[in-house]
Amino acid sequence: MEVVIAKTQVEVAKRCADICCTLIKKKPNAVLGLATGTTPLPVYKELIQRHRADEVSFRQVTTFNLDEYLGLAPDHPRSYRTFMNENFFEHIDIDIENTNLPDGNAENPLKAGPEYEERLREAGGIDLQILGIGTNGHIGFNEPTSSLGSRTRLKTLTEITVRDNKRFFKSEEFQPRLVITMGIKTILEAKRILLLATGSRKAQAIADAVEGPLSAMCPASSLQMHPNVSVIVDNAAAAKLQLKEYYLWVLSHQDYLLERFGDPR
Ligand code: GLP
Repeated sequence: MEVVIAKTQVEVAKRCADICCTLIKKKPNAVLGLATGTTPLPVYKELIQRHRADEVSFRQVTTFNLDEYLGLAPDHPRSYRTFMNENFFEHIDIDIENTNLPDGNAENPLKAGPEYEERLREAGGIDLQILGIGTNGHIGFNEPTSSLGSRTRLKTLTEITVRDNKRFFKSEEFQPRLVITMGIKTILEAKRILLLATGSRKAQAIADAVEGPLSAMCPASSLQMHPNVSVIVDNAAAAKLQLKEYYLWVLSHQDYLLERFGDPR
């Protein structure tokens, strides 16, 4: 995997936004896979700014989010649909009809997964998937021991994840334990993947994902099997990487390689 160690959270966001904008320029009707959580927020801010500066248009873009809470209606203030509308979609020129999240309000949640997979197939699959990572190594809401062959489905959250995400809910508020999440196999079908992490809380999960054994105990380690992943982290999240110096060494050759051979992607 390509490991990019950026100096700051802002640089992580800028690098990720650069890759999104280059893709959209090349393919205006690109399909983006999007994530919620705190980590991608600076990316959305950066993309909104670039849109306002007329540098990128999302008019033809389609998006698919990784996951949604079960039992929260789309207009619920804590639903991931509301999170995406407020933090990104309302500020860009995307057609809201082209923004997709799993149906957390489905009458039959067992059908919501296969239906989402069908929508994804019809859209032609994801060109670029943005991922965050849980402190326990989850991607989307694929908790440790999720099948590496899993598809979009109902999942029960671990107590760690419920605790980590408590900050988004008021103390008296109902916090769902059940979710619908893209599966690991679904995620691995994206053409390109960017795994983002910032802050020291993510250092162990990043070390496990990049350098640990391939194991369902760290769902993000499944990304080792994907041929086109960039792990973009700040210094704090990179702190536990054993080969940190090597990744920086590789990065220092990048300009030379780009100049000589162009971007293979
Ligand atoms: C949530 C989301 C994940 C996200 C992770 C990390 O549970 N389902 O997609 O990557 O937690 O969140 P944060 O970026 O807030 O640390």
